[in-house]
Amino acid sequence: MSPEWISVAKSAQVPEGGTLQVSCGKEILCLFRIRGQVYATQDTCTHGAASLSEGYVEGEEIECPFHQGLFHIPTGKAVGKPCIVDLRIFEVKEADDEVSIKGCES
Ligand code: FES
Repeated sequence: MSPEWISVAKSAQVPEGGTLQVSCGKEILCLFRIRGQVYATQDTCTHGAASLSEGYVEGEEIECPFHQGLFHIPTGKAVGKPCIVDLRIFEVKEADDEVSIKGCES
């Protein structure tokens, strides 16, 4: 796990209510922006090989595009079947037009 902040995107690439798949070290993450705040989770669903960046954001939840499982974005909690395993979440910092992440596998 990298103790360093890694720049992964420009702020403008993460639209309100949208998603963005990014690489962080060896990992693929999904960025979200909810009420101006950027959040980061693992991009792969815990139920199967779906990319959550291709899912649908509804409020604070992301719906998986494969079987419509739901996760709470700020906490990563699995909140809708068939998903029962939580997502990993990552620390996010947004400054000077850059989104940076701490804690991904380097
Ligand atoms: Fe995500 Fe099945 S792969 S709900």
